[in-house]
Amino acid sequence: MDIVEANGARIPTPGMGTWTLNGRLCVELVAHALALGYRHIDTAAAYDNEEAVGAGLRASGVPRDEIFVTTKVWWSDIEPRKLERSAEASLRRLGLDHVDLLLVHWPNPAVPVAETIGALNAVKARGLTRHIGVSNFTTALLREALAASQAPLVANQVEYHPYLDQSKVHAACRAAGMAMVAYCPIFRGEPLFSEPAVTSAARRHGRTPAQIVLRWHMQKAGVVPIPRTTRKERLAENIAVSAFALSEEEMDAISMLSARNARLCDFSFSPKWDNP
Ligand SMILES: NC(=O)c1ccc[n+]([C@@H]2O[C@H](COP(=O)([O-])OP(=O)(O)OC[C@H]3O[C@@H](n4cnc5c(N)ncnc54)[C@H](OP(=O)(O)O)[C@@H]3O)[C@@H](O)[C@H]2O)c1
Repeated sequence: MDIVEANGARIPTPGMGTWTLNGRLCVELVAHALALGYRHIDTAAAYDNEEAVGAGLRASGVPRDEIFVTTKVWWSDIEPRKLERSAEASLRRLGLDHVDLLLVHWPNPAVPVAETIGALNAVKARGLTRHIGVSNFTTALLREALAASQAPLVANQVEYHPYLDQSKVHAACRAAGMAMVAYCPIFRGEPLFSEPAVTSAARRHGRTPAQIVLRWHMQKAGVVPIPRTTRKERLAENIAVSAFALSEEEMDAISMLSARNARLCDFSFSPKWDNP
């Protein structure tokens, strides 16, 4: 398992995304992922699956201290008192006494960043999480968050795949020693998987398009992709991305796809993005 180091955190990569996974399937997939060697599981209060994720962790038999568990506080709960209650409720559902990373899921313009970051620090000081970070923060919001935090922020989780240029957010994360965790890393498949830059690299390396795109992420400094699948065989496919490398030309050809400038997660409550 590869590791990205970020301000004292050691984040296993790739991680396993769990949005939309629920119930028995979620339990089985989490346990199977851990048996395959995944060591980083990404959930959130809003995914309504923390009980199942926790059951999957226990079913795996993998020691707790070998697994990096991330959860998130939904944006309507990031006022300080609510944030602490949300973190406590997540731990109860997961059946854990701490998570490894607690993120603010989305910023909320009605709540000052400094208040939310203060509450994240308080939750960390209580030992409910080993590390803290943010998600869907623009460079401007990240600057505010960094200025307000006593403990280091270790990650900004943002949408990132070859169709989206995130060079500004990536540079800001790197400058602050933070990881950039990439959600929707494979753009949910098509049309990305049919792009000639992807299919030609797949042919050359004898790999699948998903593996080429995940490898592209892994070769970007400090980037941690967290693909999600409902299929066991794809869990195995998505983690087998360490034993080959893309050339600089292949990396560049895939990066050029960002001209499409496509976002999958853009909602009424989203902030004003760095790259509209
Ligand atoms: N912080 C945030 O605001 C935020 C927002 C969105 C997502 N996330 C996190 O990021 C994770 C990943 O994002 P995502 O789930 O939206 O998108 P994604 O991982 O880019 O794509 C998931 C889709 O790709 C398919 N897929 C997975 N592996 C494949 C493979 N090897 N070949 C072909 N198709 C494959 C899956 O279908 P099958 O199930 O059929 O395999 C699924 O429909 C989420 O689960 C969540 O943990 C966070």
